[in-house]
Amino acid sequence: MGTSLGLSTLYLANGNPDANIITIEGCPNISKFAGENFHRLGTDQINQVTGNFDDKLAEVLKPIERLDFAFIDGNHQQEPTINYFEQCLLKSNSNSIFIFDDIHWSEGMEKAWENIISHPDVSLSVDIFHMGIVFLKKELTKQHFVIRF
Ligand SMILES: C[S@@+](CC[C@H](N)C(=O)[O-])C[C@H]1O[C@@H](n2cnc3c(N)ncnc32)[C@H](O)[C@@H]1O
Repeated sequence: MGTSLGLSTLYLANGNPDANIITIEGCPNISKFAGENFHRLGTDQINQVTGNFDDKLAEVLKPIERLDFAFIDGNHQQEPTINYFEQCLLKSNSNSIFIFDDIHWSEGMEKAWENIISHPDVSLSVDIFHMGIVFLKKELTKQHFVIRF
């Protein structure tokens, strides 16, 4: 979520050429630019959606059976971030991993992160300062790590 110029999307695509990747961007001009980058680099595993997360996330998630991974990097506000997390949870499984960017960016994001890591479905969370990684693996005992570097 938050395609911007497509850099993180391209890294994700490169990490797993078999993955079906959907990326959402609110700004049509930026989305068009990212699309040109995807085309130039010859990847056909990225599906672009242009529009506000508040409308598009539900639309994108509806036909998906299984959401293995989500990278949430846009609209860094407390309530929307929690809302996106809860929507993604509905399509998650025990192996799903969610990454939230800028978890310490504002008071609202601090609160959103606290809310997310205390959710009963989150078994393991890792704060690497610039971003937070959330695991849902049911077999794990609830643990939270803060990595300082
Ligand atoms: C920090 S950038 C994402 C950077 C990208 N993940 C990368 O590393 O290449 C955030 C993007 O989210 C988009 N964005 C912010 N709020 C949004 C919203 N409510 N709906 C859709 N897109 C949004 C912005 O237009 C911006 O391009």
